[in-house]
Amino acid sequence: MTFPVDEFRRGYDVDENASRFSNYFHVLREVVHLSNGWLPLVGDFELKYRLGDHLHDDARSISKVRRRLYELRHPSDYPGTPGDELTALLERLNSAGSADEYVALAYGEAKPLLIDSIRVHLERLDPVSDEPSLRLLSQVVARQERHLEETADSRQQTADRGMGRIEDLGALPIALKGEPRSLRVMPPLDVPARDSFVEVTEEGDPFLAEELYVNDPELNHVPVEPEEQRHFFHGLMDAELTAAELMARNSHEYPDMPWDFHVDMARQTWDELRHAKVHYMLMPTALGCRWGDYPVTFSYFRSIYAHDLLGRLALFNSTSEQKAMWRHSRRREVLTDRGQAKVAMVFDYLLADEVPHVHNGVRWGVHLLDGDEAAYRRKVRELREGLDETGAPREAPSAA
Ligand SMILES: [Fe+2]
Ligand SMILES: [Fe+2]
Repeated sequence: MTFPVDEFRRGYDVDENASRFSNYFHVLREVVHLSNGWLPLVGDFELKYRLGDHLHDDARSISKVRRRLYELRHPSDYPGTPGDELTALLERLNSAGSADEYVALAYGEAKPLLIDSIRVHLERLDPVSDEPSLRLLSQVVARQERHLEETADSRQQTADRGMGRIEDLGALPIALKGEPRSLRVMPPLDVPARDSFVEVTEEGDPFLAEELYVNDPELNHVPVEPEEQRHFFHGLMDAELTAAELMARNSHEYPDMPWDFHVDMARQTWDELRHAKVHYMLMPTALGCRWGDYPVTFSYFRSIYAHDLLGRLALFNSTSEQKAMWRHSRRREVLTDRGQAKVAMVFDYLLADEVPHVHNGVRWGVHLLDGDEAAYRRKVRELREGLDETGAPREAPSAA
């Protein structure tokens, strides 16, 4: 075999290359941070799902871009600080006054600029000496293009894309020794948003009985009748949305946590939204109901969100999700025995995804307590004392 031999392209020198990656890094980091902040406030389920999927893509892209910067620049101080023009773009993203406005800016300005610039980069880089960049950027640009396609119908088009001022985002200057750019945290949430056709009440769906959520094998009730399954899966979809919103906010509100924490939260946000999508599809196809048929409540969201990060991880990941694992496996067994194989199968995957979610609680809870596992277990025990037998904070219903 003989390798094809082509002329070298002039390409970018290593410094220019690293500086381009640094600009991409800053855009992606800000988009992940702000998408996490706005996600709970997007009512439309499809758009909420897309944001979660895309911010997970972008978080993984950031990990790879960071790695490439390390390869190119080690041991210097990258990613450096954005220059004035990039800072102005990032500030515009931060200035959004609503979820729709944010989505219009992120998908109408920031992502298109990223795509254009990466295309320039791919066009010019030398495909042999800089093949690692070629591989990485091809993947990142394909993801960004998918993000634009998947949101084209649900976002407002910005009349002025504000792009005239930046021609090639990658070529913008980066201040190597500048102060690190800090991420701005949005005001705390009051409640998240649901599709406009979903009724939100204080008590939620009165049909959902406590026996659905207890872990005692004697008392636990697996919903088997069609009517109770409809209510149950509807409540479960809402619980998945709540889970996604809590994880997104964990990432947004604690920007100084290690980068891996944000990747873990992004993954869980997407998982929970995918679970919601499973129930969204299962309802009309297997159960005879639809999203929005019954009321939902924000009381569980409020009860967890009121805690700091450590409390949220202890109560949600290490308690709620940990206990849901047992119920999912029981539900799977009972439904399999009853011949509802398709519905039972759902619980098989929910259960598998729950394992890393529970692990997120331990991993980052212990991190917050300086590596002291015993202290984290104590914290979990202490907070569990405030819960009723369904695993919900007293007075607030659980729905998973
Ligand atoms: Fe879930
Ligand atoms: Fe989960």
